[in-house]
Amino acid sequence: MDIKEAIIKRHSVRRFLDKEIENSIVNELNDAISNVCLESGLDIKFVLNEPNAFTGFLAKYGKFENCKSYITICGKAGREIDVGYYGEKLVIIAQMLGLNSCWVALTYKKGKVPIKAKKGEKFYIVIAIGYGRNRGLPRKSKTVDKLCNLKENEMPEWFKNGMDFAMRAPTAINQQKFFISLDSLEERIVSARAKIGPCSKIDLGIVKYHFEIGAGKESFKWRE
Ligand SMILES: Cc1cc2nc3c(=O)[nH]c(=O)nc-3n(C[C@H](O)[C@H](O)[C@H](O)COP(=O)(O)O)c2cc1C
Repeated sequence: MDIKEAIIKRHSVRRFLDKEIENSIVNELNDAISNVCLESGLDIKFVLNEPNAFTGFLAKYGKFENCKSYITICGKAGREIDVGYYGEKLVIIAQMLGLNSCWVALTYKKGKVPIKAKKGEKFYIVIAIGYGRNRGLPRKSKTVDKLCNLKENEMPEWFKNGMDFAMRAPTAINQQKFFISLDSLEERIVSARAKIGPCSKIDLGIVKYHFEIGAGKESFKWRE
């Protein structure tokens, strides 16, 4: 499975099989985590076989079943966009390794997580990981004209592909509070902004990762 196929197949999964993740898969994911930590400077860990963070959460929305493994992401303040970007890179690697996942900002018990942020750093978020009881379901998306500054018939092909993948990005409560603009068609400069909303900056990092995969990193430049 390549990255594009993994993005197309990924949906949030909250119900997992009661099955430990195979050692070889754990090793591959840990290798990927080490690389992403080096690249990003974030502090990312893979917690295995720890059932308490996802047990006994009573709300109906965001309830998990058999979630015993999860990724934790910590880092310095102000790194939300990187948290989303690099976390989603790991979500897609997990998908390619045959696992399923769900980003979780709220519906877990943070106090039960055995990892704490280092002094001067922040505990951002977790990503539930496991073998899904199902593959998750496609969900609704806002229409493309609400998410970018071009009409579909005005878009160059690479931008259209970028938007297709950006619209597949998971966002907190499926809010999709992002807006992508093609600022210069000639110079191929694109900007991406987060609107106000819970976790919308983490969402924006996820969206930027997806856009790059869809459009091709070499096709354009982000506005700094
Ligand atoms: C930053 C972020 C935080 C999220 N927090 C939660 C959460 O606390 N509980 C939960 O069940 N789902 C959570 N989700 C999953 C979203 O609800 C889900 O991604 C969204 O509804 C879109 O569905 P999809 O992932 O299947 O495309 C979160 C997603 C993101 C990106």
